[in-house]
Amino acid sequence: MKGLILAGGAGTRLRPITYTSAKQLVPVANTPILFYGLQSMVDAGITEIGIIVGDTASEVRSAVGDGSRWGAFITYIPQDEPLGLAHCVLIARDFLGNDEFVMYLGDNLLEQDLSTFVRAFHDDPERPAAQILLKSVPDPHRFGVAELDGSGDVLRLVEKPAEPASDLALVGVYLFDATIHKAVRAIGPSARGELEITDAVQWLVDNRFRVRAQLLDGWWIDTGKLTPLLEANRLLLERIETRIEGEVDGSSTIDGRVIIEQGAQVIRSRIRGPVAIAAGSRIVDSYIGPYTAIGPDCEVDHSEVEHSVLLERVKITDVPRLQDSLIGRDAVVTRSQSRPKALRLMVGDHSQIDVE
Ligand code: DAU
Repeated sequence: MKGLILAGGAGTRLRPITYTSAKQLVPVANTPILFYGLQSMVDAGITEIGIIVGDTASEVRSAVGDGSRWGAFITYIPQDEPLGLAHCVLIARDFLGNDEFVMYLGDNLLEQDLSTFVRAFHDDPERPAAQILLKSVPDPHRFGVAELDGSGDVLRLVEKPAEPASDLALVGVYLFDATIHKAVRAIGPSARGELEITDAVQWLVDNRFRVRAQLLDGWWIDTGKLTPLLEANRLLLERIETRIEGEVDGSSTIDGRVIIEQGAQVIRSRIRGPVAIAAGSRIVDSYIGPYTAIGPDCEVDHSEVEHSVLLERVKITDVPRLQDSLIGRDAVVTRSQSRPKALRLMVGDHSQIDVE
């Protein structure tokens, strides 16, 4: 069995961060989102992995490399334009051959590992042509939505319906056999101009191929927007074990589960976990509250930060309280002492700032 990870696409809902960075590489709990999916595939025994890459190809390539870090063999498959999830299958044809494969959306995060899901598909004597994963959600109109018959078989799938027939959203993990290649060739573009995988799976149903649906137990997050991204960061930080390899001075207090990587420094500060502080960061005279991930080489000085994600080299100085925030690379947030008191901003396009 092979793996296909989708790491192209536009990432418009996480602008401005995604102007300069792939949305699949935004870190949660200080690890790029994409790495969790990769690890999960390898844990399920899948090591031949194709990654679909778009405009951010070079960044994805330099982050993932040849995959040897995970014991995987990576083939990069360039997609010139984000023409849809089924288009990704179309262009991966040579890589996939006639093998069964797992398709994983690179911005999705799942609590459950893929092994059970892969095993259920693989070990089924009446193996279906496709196996989809569903989760009951409060806002199904944001996703592909499935309608099942009384016995749990898939009747209909609709992409982002205005009036959803159920609350069962399609999770971004799909298992296919080679029949899907017929389906992706048979469908046309949707109203939003994409070749939808939802339509390809519907084609399988319409042509009497078996499509099995499985309900997901654990949490699942499509990280494409700020709130779910912070939620994913929270859920993953919940799982960390304390590891203090950096320096913590005698006037600092550490409560709860905290990772302080080698080369990080905590000086006259209070850290209340779960918190992760990456190598090279300095926390001085500050409070870092629960569910905060501080990336490499950041500086937090005379400030309070909680429930936030800071990317590399962020500087936060004299900020009384920063929370529920995602701060991009090299950004500086500071409170100036100069008068008149005013907000002075240099903010990128599509930024979002909430002032008190
Ligand atoms: O997250 C689950 C949802 O993902 C499903 O419920 C929907 O049925 C499915 O269509 C998909 O919807 P999204 O609108 O969230 O998909 P998005 O455009 O965010 O793309 C998902 C991933 O695939 C993302 O990592 C980018 C990548 N991608 C996307 C497109 C359209 C590509 O690599 N190439 C593409 O052409």
